Parts: sequence; structure tokens; C-alpha cells
Amino acid sequence: MSATSRCRICDGTVHEFIDLGRQPLSDAFVVPGDEKKEFFFRLATGICESCTMVQLMEEVPRDLMFHEAYPYLSSGSAVMRAHFGELAKRFLTTELTGEDPFIVELGCNDGIMLKAVADAGVRQLGVEPSGSVADLAAAKGIRVRKDFFEEATAADIRKNDGPADVIYAANTLCHIPYMDSILKGVTQLLGPNGVFVFEDPYLGDIVERTSFDQIYDEHFFFFTARSVQAMAERNGLELVDVERIPVHGGEVRYTLALAGARQPSAAVAELLAWEAERKLAEYATLERFATNVKKIRDDLIALLTKLRAEGKRVVGYGATAKSATVTNFCGITPDLVEFISDTTPSKQGKLSPGQHIPVREYREFADDHPDYALLFAWNHADEIMNAEQAFRDSGGQWIRYVPNVHVS
Ligand code: SAM
Ligand code: TMP
Ligand code: ZN
Repeated sequence: MSATSRCRICDGTVHEFIDLGRQPLSDAFVVPGDEKKEFFFRLATGICESCTMVQLMEEVPRDLMFHEAYPYLSSGSAVMRAHFGELAKRFLTTELTGEDPFIVELGCNDGIMLKAVADAGVRQLGVEPSGSVADLAAAKGIRVRKDFFEEATAADIRKNDGPADVIYAANTLCHIPYMDSILKGVTQLLGPNGVFVFEDPYLGDIVERTSFDQIYDEHFFFFTARSVQAMAERNGLELVDVERIPVHGGEVRYTLALAGARQPSAAVAELLAWEAERKLAEYATLERFATNVKKIRDDLIALLTKLRAEGKRVVGYGATAKSATVTNFCGITPDLVEFISDTTPSKQGKLSPGQHIPVREYREFADDHPDYALLFAWNHADEIMNAEQAFRDSGGQWIRYVPNVHVS
């Protein structure tokens, strides 16, 4: 029998289906000399037998992850800048056309989405607990509250600013285990015809692609239309639209409204049917996923070990949060991967969490191309491949591990 825990949505029994072992905080890059201070926890995932929500078995305290030195910068990708720019335009021409409209974003990070809203002169508020990135958003002219969104924050915003037409969160809601407080806050803050829109990695894509590196400390929930619908209904909300989006390895954008306020679109029933056909909520499906993950680990270590024996140079590309799961679960040490190239200044000069692979600036990759690049930022593959023709021209090859280990 697998290990169990209590569901953070409905208090049902959560059955574990994969154990990725002892893992560090995925975004806690280590200053050389501080290796002994790292925090570790057991990274494992299970499914709730009642509401079908897939979630972590152990929760990491939020202040350990989201703080003044949180290093993730949303604007590091041109594709993501375009993605959020288009969404802002869509909000501005649909939900934000009434008299003095108001949008609240949870986890606005460096302001990648709200910038266009602020520039259009529409009332906005970003709620962002990580101080360094919140300051970057504020510097773009965005109104930012340095805080965790939860019920009390929502009540306070409602008192000061009135109801919101849109509450939005990208790659943030799945980071928040205290969902009860969030959804109570959302129902208080939302205007009668307002919408709560959020987009996060989709369990359907994770299972189809075996993208197990989407599992890390910050990703607490792995949503489906079915589990989101159940979660909404428990809280006086209704799932009224879903949209599959191609970013970050496959996500779904969910739209919730107050129960009865809007007619659900046909896309909701279609996605629910697709999930049922794929047996996404069945334990056996997730056990098969776990088996596929172990094969990726074995294949990747075999390949890296063979390349080391041949004297080839392998460098990691993108010190993503996801790469912490891959390197620590597979046991990828600095003798297998020489360094990881990353464009984020606050990650450079540090060591990767857990395995302590040096993170170096991009120039070191470009100036002395390795034989192989291990693509940790595979979710930005198109953008990166376009930019790295010179690496390929120099004879360089890419190692990918999603959906399986392959060299191209
Ligand atoms: N929305 C951006 C994007 O999609 O690129 C940023 C995503 S980042 C992975 C997650 C963000 O959520 C972080 O900036 C973190 O500080 C923020 N966050 C975590 N818990 C939060 C909470 N309770 N309320 C608001 N933001 C939160
Ligand atoms: P993400 O997958 O969570 O968006 O993180 C992507 C990481 O990869 C981030 O640390 C920035 C880095 N990166 C590069 O180094 N070069 C690139 O071209 C891109 C798109 C990202
Ligand atoms: Zn549940």
C-alpha cells in the first residue's frame, strides 16, 4: 500500500504514486561555501481519492521559497513576454471595458503582464510577496502590494479598492497549498460578473510527456479540469472556460466565475471528456507515469556516463527550477555536467541546489561551445533553438529528456 496524506482541498485521502526522493528548494541557488546550510524535504506526489486533485505529499513553508531573494524573473523569455502581452490586450478589450475597471494579479513577478495594463491607464494591483521581483514591477509603474495573497489580503483590497473585474494568476495558483483561504479571498474580492483566471502546468501534458521535472517544491498542485471544477464548486465558484496553451511545456488557462453568473463554454465539457478518456484521474495511469520517469532517469544517467567515458564536454542549458528535480532525482553531479549556463544574474556564480553544479553566465557557453548541451529549459526549446544556430554549426548536439532521452 502506498503512503497517504490529507488532501489540501477536501481533506480526503491522498495516495502517493511517485517518490522523487530527498530534494532541496528548487530556486535556492547556493553561494559557494554555504553548501551545508541547504534545506531538504521529501518530494513525492499523490492523488486524492475523493476530489482527484494531484498534490505534493509534503509542504514546504512558503517563506523559505518566496522572499526578498527569490531569483525567478518572468521576463527572461521573449516568448513569455509576447504571451503575457497578448493576454493583457485580450483583458483590455473584453473584461476590462466597463467604467473604471480593476484587475488584480497574484504573483505578478517583475510585471511581465501588468505592464501593458498600467500603460493603458487601467486600474491594477499586483500582489507579490517576493520583494526583489516586486520592486522590478513597481519600477515599471505598476501598483504592487508586497504581500502573500490570502483571505485577509483580499478583504483588505476589497475595502480599499472595491471589487475586481479580473483576478489573474499565472504559474502561481499551483504554488499555493492554502487554497481554502485563496478561494475565500477570491469570492470576496470578485465583482458579481468578475472572473478568476489562472494558468498553470496541466497534469494531462505532464503525464503525456512524462515531464516529471514539473514536480518540485513550488509546484504544490497539478490541476485538471476535473479537479479544478470540484475545487471551484466547494467554494461557490464555477469553472466556465478552459483553454489549452502551449507555454511552459503545456498548460491550461482556467476561468472561474461566481456560481451561476456565467454560462460554461463547450470547451469545459470537451476537456472533461478528454481527461476521462485518458483515465487521467486513475491511480494506474499515474503508476505508469512513475515507471516512465524511472526509465528516463536510467537512460539519462547511462548516456551522461557514456559521454564522460568518451571525454565529451556536457553543459546544462537553463538553471531552471525544474532542473533541481532532474539533477537530484537522477544523481547528475558536476563530473557529468560541467556547468549550467543561465541568463539570470542572481543565479550566476552560485551552485545548483543539491548537486552543486556551478551556474555560469551565458557568455561562457557561447565563447567555448561544449560537445553537448543538456536542455533543462526544454519548455523554451523553440526560442532557444532559434537563438543557438552557432552552437549547432560548431557541431554541438542537444540532449533532451522529455518525453524520453534523445540526442539531436
Ligand atoms: N506570474 C509570473 C509568471 O507566470 O511568469 C510569475 C510566476 S512565479 C513562478 C510565481 C510567483 O508567485 C512568484 O513571483 C512568487 O513570489 C509568487 N507567489 C507565491 N505565493 C504567492 C501568494 N500567496 N500570493 C501572491 N503571489 C505569490
Ligand atoms: P523557466 O523554465 O522556469 O521559465 O526558467 C528558465 C530559466 O532558463 C531561467 O533561469 C532563465 C534561463 N534561460 C536562459 O538561460 N536562456 C534562455 O534563452 C531562456 C529562454 C531561459
Ligand atoms: Zn481532495
